[in-house]
Amino acid sequence: MMARLRVGVLISGRGSNLQALIDASAAPDYPAEIVTVISNREDAAGLARAAAAGIAAHVISDPDRSVFAAETDRILRGARVGLIALAGFMRILDGGFVAAWADRLINIHPSLLPAFPGLHPQRKALEAGVKFSGCSVHFVRDAVDTGPIIAQAVVPVDDGDDEAALAARILAAEHRLYPLAVRLFAERRLHIAGNRVRVAGAATPDIAALNPTDLA
Ligand code: GRF
Repeated sequence: MMARLRVGVLISGRGSNLQALIDASAAPDYPAEIVTVISNREDAAGLARAAAAGIAAHVISDPDRSVFAAETDRILRGARVGLIALAGFMRILDGGFVAAWADRLINIHPSLLPAFPGLHPQRKALEAGVKFSGCSVHFVRDAVDTGPIIAQAVVPVDDGDDEAALAARILAAEHRLYPLAVRLFAERRLHIAGNRVRVAGAATPDIAALNPTDLA
C-alpha cells in the first residue's frame, strides 16, 4: 500500500470529530493517519483522546495570531503533515498560514454552507425555519467558513427540535462525513477549480448514502 497520508488535526474542545478520524484510521486500509494534534486550549477534552490513541499532542495558546501560526506551522512541518484538518477549532487562523496551506487545509462546519457560517449555525438554522440542514467539509480560505466544498451531508430538521437535538443529529453525520472526505483527499481524488471541487474516479456511494437518494 502507498504510504498513508499524514494528517494534523487542530482542535479547541471536545474532539469528537478528531475521535471519528482516529477511529477511521484504525482500519488498516484507511489511507490516512493522524500524526499530530494541536489545541489552542489546554483544557480541550480532545487532548485526552489524542493521548489515549498515542498521538503526539501540543497546546499552543499564544494570544498573538502570528506567533500561534508560526509555532503551529513548525510543529506540522516537523511532523511532515500533508493535510491539516480543523475539527472544532475555534480560533481564526493567520492569513499567511491559510495561504501557505490553502489546498491542504480543510474544515468541517455543522451547516449546509454557504448557509449559516460562523457561530451557532444550528440555532441559526432553527431561527431560519429550514427543513433540512447538515454539515459541510470544505477547503479553508481566508474568511470564516468559506472555501471550495468537498462534501456535504443533509440532515432533516424535525418540528420538535431544539438546538441541542439538531446539533446532535448533525454531529452524527459529521462523524461519518469527515473520515470520508479525508479519504478522498488522501486518495488524491479532489480537484479544485475555482469554488468547485470535482471528485475524480468512481462514484462515492458512502457519501451518497448520507444523503437523500431519490433526487437524481
Ligand atoms: C462540530 O460541530 C464542528 O462541525 C464544529 O465544531 C464542532 C466540534 O465538535 N466546527 P468536536 O470538538 O469535534 O466534538
